[in-house]
Amino acid sequence: MAKDQAPVIRLEDYRPPAWLVDTVEMDVRLDPARTEILTRLAIRPNPAGGGGPLRLDGEDLELVWLKLDGRRLAAGDYRLDESGLSIASMPDTAAVLEIATAVDPSANTRLMGLYRSNGIYCTQCEAEGFRRITFYPDRPDVLAVFTVRLEADKVAAPVLLANGNPVESGDIAGTGRHYAVWHDPHPKPCYLFAMVAGDLGRVGDTFVTASGRTVDLGIYVERGKEDRCGYAMDALKRSMRWDETAFGREYDLDVFNIVAVSDFNMGAMENKGLNIFNDKYVLASPETATDADYANIEAIIAHEYFHNWTGNRITCRDWFQLCLKEGLTVFRDQEFSADMRSRPVERIADVRTLKAHQFVEDAGPLAHPVRPESYREINNFYTATVYEKGAEVIRMLKVLIGDAAFRAGMDLYFARHDGEAATIEDFLACFAETSGRDLTQFKLWYSQSGTPEVTATGRWDASTSSYELTLEQSCPPTPGQPVKQPMVIPIRFGLIGSGGDMQPAVVEGDGVTGDLIELRAARQRIVFRGLAERPVPSLLRGFSAPVKLTTNLDDDDLLFAAARDSDPFNRWQALQSVATRLLTDAQAAIRAGGAPAADARFLASLRRTAESADLDPAFRAQALHLPTQADIARDIGREVDPAAIHAAEDWLRGLIGASLADTLRALYGGLALNAPYTPDAAAAGRRALRNAALSLLSATGDAADIEMAERHFRNADNMTDRLAGLQILVRAGAEAAEAALAAFHDRYRDDPLVLDKWFTIQATAPGEATLGRVIELMRHPAFALSNPNRVRALIGAFASGNPAQFNRPDGAGYRLLGEVATQIDRSNPQLAARLLSAFRSWRVLEPVRRAAARAELERIASLDGLSRDTSDIVRRSLE
Ligand code: ARG
Ligand code: ZN
Repeated sequence: MAKDQAPVIRLEDYRPPAWLVDTVEMDVRLDPARTEILTRLAIRPNPAGGGGPLRLDGEDLELVWLKLDGRRLAAGDYRLDESGLSIASMPDTAAVLEIATAVDPSANTRLMGLYRSNGIYCTQCEAEGFRRITFYPDRPDVLAVFTVRLEADKVAAPVLLANGNPVESGDIAGTGRHYAVWHDPHPKPCYLFAMVAGDLGRVGDTFVTASGRTVDLGIYVERGKEDRCGYAMDALKRSMRWDETAFGREYDLDVFNIVAVSDFNMGAMENKGLNIFNDKYVLASPETATDADYANIEAIIAHEYFHNWTGNRITCRDWFQLCLKEGLTVFRDQEFSADMRSRPVERIADVRTLKAHQFVEDAGPLAHPVRPESYREINNFYTATVYEKGAEVIRMLKVLIGDAAFRAGMDLYFARHDGEAATIEDFLACFAETSGRDLTQFKLWYSQSGTPEVTATGRWDASTSSYELTLEQSCPPTPGQPVKQPMVIPIRFGLIGSGGDMQPAVVEGDGVTGDLIELRAARQRIVFRGLAERPVPSLLRGFSAPVKLTTNLDDDDLLFAAARDSDPFNRWQALQSVATRLLTDAQAAIRAGGAPAADARFLASLRRTAESADLDPAFRAQALHLPTQADIARDIGREVDPAAIHAAEDWLRGLIGASLADTLRALYGGLALNAPYTPDAAAAGRRALRNAALSLLSATGDAADIEMAERHFRNADNMTDRLAGLQILVRAGAEAAEAALAAFHDRYRDDPLVLDKWFTIQATAPGEATLGRVIELMRHPAFALSNPNRVRALIGAFASGNPAQFNRPDGAGYRLLGEVATQIDRSNPQLAARLLSAFRSWRVLEPVRRAAARAELERIASLDGLSRDTSDIVRRSLE
């Protein structure tokens, strides 16, 4: 089985580039089958000890010719191999290298480099796609000024776009072709290169920056979809304004363009001045998009826009520093969404995502540090750890050093490193300087993988009116890291008394300032003296650190906190913690052949929260959402039986539906909106609570409630409600479900993005029939292995969103995923590897499923011709 593996690339082996590139001039003659690219590079030896032989990356390229300083190189002057090109004898001064390459965009199914999506030429270069366009030092620390001339057939591609500002355009007489020249004055690494050509519709607007410059904004979409761009454009303008006010960052080109394409490996890409998006994150109308879609569009438009400063103006020295731009930019988009919507609800949603994806990743074989130290395939490191945990690290930094020093540190970072390719060390040095603090221990967050576990043990001593809190931290072993050092863990806290937050007279012990405990040692003891009564501690307020917290609070304490905590996040968390205990106990009871036990106090507390009219409906909706099956599995941590967890969830939902029926019906009836759909947070919050109520009600299977869900589906005037109704019917296995699915299909048969939702609902349906259904749906005319959105909607949703059925004890779910992914691996390795990460928790499964999952992973690992992406994921999963 030990086949050749791709070489390991290590952070410690970083060396500066031997040659620098000052300017790149490209002339691209677009043709569906054979696009020719002439590239002229002005290069010079790196003054920091560079020069010597020149190595350029190149992949799947036809080299047409090569010239050095005007002289055509003969075959003996250079060496070509499958990963690039070398020129051994180079001048020791600046030189001009001209390269002619040819590629076939229509045959490019990897969706990296130049490809065609629905007839539109587009590019994706991050991380290493530019080498599929021309030979180049394809690394982020080589920054050059690009000028790009594109030409194409005028009818097929009336729109010609590239990075930067438009310079000139015109017809090429007598050929039916035309051209456009774009110039980007900002030096950039080639992963930010982009061009687009095609017959696209445009929605335009303008934005006036803080200093009064007018920027032309354009969103380009497939013709006929222009009326679905309004929300994205609005989100863009709000993002541009927010970055000025929140971070003092102004936009820096005359134009900002966004293009939406339907075949895209990920969410979107921040190419300088020309962001390219998965159309799923641009197109929205009340008829086709849910509230969640609108929120995602807002967040991703913002994310890509914010990259203009955190990623583009200051980029990464090497790919190990990916979190430098991604973690920071996720933090920025989360803050933006919090300012646009409800801050506590945004935080709850972000933490939910973090726990569902990052905590799970951190607990399995694919765990890696926020800044990895080695990789075989960088595309496999665009992970929840780099992105979401990376954002948490920034958030902790801000909590630790305070808002003012954080903002000053950001300003210093922008001032000091603008135009550079930076490292985490460069970044942290700015904050050490503005805060005057030593961030050495803090830096462990970047190098130690795994989710730290914090145990808090409190003891009330009535005789001395004091509360003693003992905090302990540890971090479980992760791949390559058997032993960890203690980290700095910021724990925001409060002591809740019967009348609200209490003020202790004296605090004894290290690391407490105001409402913040800095846990730095493996064990720390704090005593709060002078308290009038026994407090209930509220710890980790706002989820101030990405850790797993265990306390010795009992359910009474937690339910008290759920009602009284002044921190809304912890109110939500307290209820979730009790629900987690209930679900964990319930699944154990079910596995033991017994019956789960109800908990009247939990139900009463949930009812009180649901009924609290003074609480934001969006918050109440979050309270009604139980921990996910993945959360419970992670909490159990070993010998997991996904079917039992699923049964426990069904039981608890049914119990809530029955016990709170009157409350839920009142919510459903009272929250109806008698106004046309608007996607704003307030209206979305009402819909969320109303749909959560309906979903719980129908979990009892009660005929009247199912009928209500059916009416909800039928009468909906927007996608949020229509989809919620459909989901409820399918989940309940209602008789009406098939007819509703058919009606939904008929209504949206020509709308790919909505059809994706239809696929997902069926892939995530409970019951053993689902696997067969998924296989059948793969034969649906709208299904295509070549479209990543479709594949993720059906296969990805089944593998990641249907734990009980994917983890069938007979292993059929694993085999389906294995077969589909290995087939896709031949055309689109990135997509295949991504799908296979659904195996990341296989080791915690009970023995039967574990053996079946292992067998499938081993079968895949033994196949010949696997891509680097897939073999890396599968091998690490098995290690
Ligand atoms: N930088 C893009 C973002 O905004 C994602 C690019 C992902 N590229 C990849 N090859 N996986 O997050
Ligand atoms: Zn990003």
